[in-house]
Amino acid sequence: MERLKVPLSRPQVTDEDVEVVVKILKSGRLSLGPYLKLFEEHVAEYVGARYAVAVSSGTAALHLILKALDFSSEDVLIVPSFTFVASANVALFEKGDVVFVDIEPVTMNLDPTHLEVLLEKLAKDGKRVFLMAVDIFGHPIDWDAIYNLKYKYNFTIVEDSCEALGSEYKGRKVGTFGIAGAFAFYPNKQITTGEGGVLVTDDEKIAKLAKALRNQGRSEGAGWLEHEFVGYNYRMDELSAGLGWSQIKRIDDIIEKRNQAAQRYTSCLRYVELPVVKDYVTKMSWFVYVVKLPKGTTREQRNKIINYLNEQGIEARNYFEPVHLQRPYRELGWSEGTLPVTEEIAQRTVALPFYTDITVEEQEYVAYHLEKAIEYYL
Ligand SMILES: Cc1ncc(COP(=O)(O)O)c(C=O)c1O
Repeated sequence: MERLKVPLSRPQVTDEDVEVVVKILKSGRLSLGPYLKLFEEHVAEYVGARYAVAVSSGTAALHLILKALDFSSEDVLIVPSFTFVASANVALFEKGDVVFVDIEPVTMNLDPTHLEVLLEKLAKDGKRVFLMAVDIFGHPIDWDAIYNLKYKYNFTIVEDSCEALGSEYKGRKVGTFGIAGAFAFYPNKQITTGEGGVLVTDDEKIAKLAKALRNQGRSEGAGWLEHEFVGYNYRMDELSAGLGWSQIKRIDDIIEKRNQAAQRYTSCLRYVELPVVKDYVTKMSWFVYVVKLPKGTTREQRNKIINYLNEQGIEARNYFEPVHLQRPYRELGWSEGTLPVTEEIAQRTVALPFYTDITVEEQEYVAYHLEKAIEYYL
């Protein structure tokens, strides 16, 4: 088989994208211009939210949501550990407590049963409880189950849909199930702005505060040196907004291509547990394609398989490492054994190369070598 080089991800950038960005460059208006507004309007309409506030990253979007909700050191954020570290870190930015919830092993999203156990325990503390509901790898969480818990225990839902732009749960776009939601546009995402993110909400107060806080605490209409709040520079520049606007116009086509790529993997991979899309998902917007090696695979065996793939020019990765075992969280007392499902799943997951324009040949090359690696090492 001819040797290929297959990256983990690769953004789709068209001539039209380039033209938009060059036009902005030539316009001389590189920040706080018309494309920011255009992009925000398009995102809001696409996901079905009243407001969208574009910012410099998905992390910034999550942080601003917590700030706008006045999340503080008195509050608790429940968050899965099987996620990107930023989902949890934003609570530490504000010195709040982080409590990790275990996942269910099929979709790898948070487990509502485990969540209920935590909510029951936390109810006794009398603290305000927030849930960071992550739609992992693009797969929506089970919203009916979460809403049932919300009626029983009172908590505030923030949706981390950073990986899930376009996915739908029972016909409704993710990002709109909590008080506010966030999307991210790093180049491995469905659409990219280089770096960037956006928060969406129906709540006017959150939108207004987020707009002020991303812009050094300047309220709408305030002068350049009038700062009503202690804010940040979390602005999205015009080049990024223009690129995002150009990309989101073809989001349906991008989602469809990624869907076809996922289906091709599903039909050609052997010896692994394939990603499952639940019936309640009326639209799946694939972020990454993560397989699970067979139960019983050790971390060492998984890493050997990844190394072998890397040697063949295939950029496969371990995805995710549990957040609760990262140093800042270990220092807060988290350790092995506290989240058994997360820890067991995290040691045998592998993200395969996956992007909008991945070719059949590249996918067959990955499938061939993954099969070989499993035959060698398992
Ligand atoms: C689940 C999740 N949350 C938050 C983020 C943070 O987004 P960003 O890297 O744009 O700050 C990401 C990005 O990878 C993510 O996957």
